[in-house]
Amino acid sequence: MSVLPPVPLPFGAIPLRGDAARAVAAVRLRALAANLPDGLTVRMMDLDDSNLLADFRVRVVATLEDPDHYRMAGEVGNFVADHLGDRGLTAGIFRKGALVAYGALGLPSAADPNRGRDLDLPEAELPWVAHMSSAMVDPSERGRGLHHRLIDWRIEVAEALGRRHLVTTVSTRNHRSWGHLARHGIYPKRLVRVGGDLVRLLVHRDFTVDPVFDTASAELVAVEELASRWDVFDRGHVWGRVAVGEGASQRWYALCGRERDPR
Ligand SMILES: CC(C)(COP(=O)(O)OP(=O)(O)OC[C@H]1O[C@@H](n2cnc3c(N)ncnc32)[C@H](O)[C@@H]1OP(=O)(O)O)[C@@H](O)C(=O)NCCC(=O)NCCS
Repeated sequence: MSVLPPVPLPFGAIPLRGDAARAVAAVRLRALAANLPDGLTVRMMDLDDSNLLADFRVRVVATLEDPDHYRMAGEVGNFVADHLGDRGLTAGIFRKGALVAYGALGLPSAADPNRGRDLDLPEAELPWVAHMSSAMVDPSERGRGLHHRLIDWRIEVAEALGRRHLVTTVSTRNHRSWGHLARHGIYPKRLVRVGGDLVRLLVHRDFTVDPVFDTASAELVAVEELASRWDVFDRGHVWGRVAVGEGASQRWYALCGRERDPR
């Protein structure tokens, strides 16, 4: 793993949250707004949008092709209130006033649950963790790059806030979701149990390092098997997803392996 210069902490030793963090996030929405497909607008969401966000999430979850892809039982706290209030930041994308996509970033403070603990991060680094909490896109707006754009926006905001670690959990079977995150350097590093008995990938990016895949260690694991393959993570982690075959015979695999030793 090559070591990059540390991310400067732009606001001193205390992480920004609440209105100050929202101002930083809002500025970074401009680039996203400028490149949206025709007819779409984006803005920060706030507590007045609670019903809108809650209803949208229920609607999207009801249409999941596999219910394991997103289970609200795996969430900690009150997702909507936490991500529209002081504990998080949410961008909403709208068509004619209707919410069609959102991306939420969690900003845990010392008293809040912190996924950095599942990674065994040092206590001193926990204040600099952001949760890549969730993103959802209306089925009619998928395949236009909205998810990738919302990932980019959350990466830029986390970095601007000095939150050097981005962490979240994702269903092993939701390979579209973790595959997209991996394309932005947020790699599945471990398997963890959440909400009782759900097995989830713990995905993580540390902005201060730039890991390189040791292709000599490459191994493909079928995504259906990943939840039982804890051994993969003793030998490295998942670097991305790979499709094998075409049409009805297409199968998805996790590309697994070690980091290249810089020596
Ligand atoms: C997973 C989910 C968020 C993806 O949303 P999406 O907006 O369709 O994703 P994108 O359009 O960014 O990417 C899908 C494909 O569109 C294509 N695409 C089209 N235009 C693009 C653009 N301008 N930029 C990038 N990709 C683009 C890409 O090829 C991409 O292919 P890939 O899967 O090989 O990367 C969506 O399917 C969803 O809401 N699922 C249900 C909820 C869920 O599972 N959420 C994630 C867990 S919290």
